[in-house]
Amino acid sequence: DQINAFQTTLLTWYDQHKRDLPWRQDHDPYHVWVSEIMLQQTQVQTVIPYYLRFMKQFPTVQSLAEADETDLMKAWEGLGYYSRARNLQRAAKQVVNDYHGHWPETASELQDLSGIGPYTAGAIASIAFNQPVAAVDGNAFRVFARLLEIDDDIAKPQTRKIFETVINRLISKERPGDFNQAIMDLGASYMTATNFDSSNSPVKAFNQSYLDGIESKYPVKTKK
Ligand code: ADE
Repeated sequence: DQINAFQTTLLTWYDQHKRDLPWRQDHDPYHVWVSEIMLQQTQVQTVIPYYLRFMKQFPTVQSLAEADETDLMKAWEGLGYYSRARNLQRAAKQVVNDYHGHWPETASELQDLSGIGPYTAGAIASIAFNQPVAAVDGNAFRVFARLLEIDDDIAKPQTRKIFETVINRLISKERPGDFNQAIMDLGASYMTATNFDSSNSPVKAFNQSYLDGIESKYPVKTKK
């Protein structure tokens, strides 16, 4: 069917063209988590050297839980949004103390950890624990709005649920983490905020707004 064909096309493209990023070397929840927090407000190319240094300095969730706060803030210097670093250590302490070092594996439990919202919970649950849940960030809003001509305003908080429901129906149950990361890579290449031309995109046959010649209409976002 259509959903299967979309998944296969997307994942085949991902296997051949995925970006080689240091946090994609394994599926360790600590690695996935730290990278996703860094990537929230910072570009991939900026994050890479910070991520590599951070993992040398704080190689495990235990070492981060016990880190000296001054050292932690210094490691974060230049990334900005320092509350992210404080929440990171708070969550590390929660994993070590409340969960005895064993990460919770569902998106809903992961959201009990400091600094982990619906997006980050979906990313960790799918990439580290193979749970078939959407990870809805700006990339996912843009990509699925264009693929499916979703007209809901992404500036409205209640729109997230609509996208989550749609994506949870489309996501690969075999490879949910790769599916979500393939969407991120599409959103960083053929379907960026400024590239409205999907004529070379691997999934153009599934891109309704491309087929209708109205890609630039999506995503719908009102100014606040
Ligand atoms: N942006 C947010 N998460 C990402 C990931 N895992 N890979 C690439 N870009 C991302």
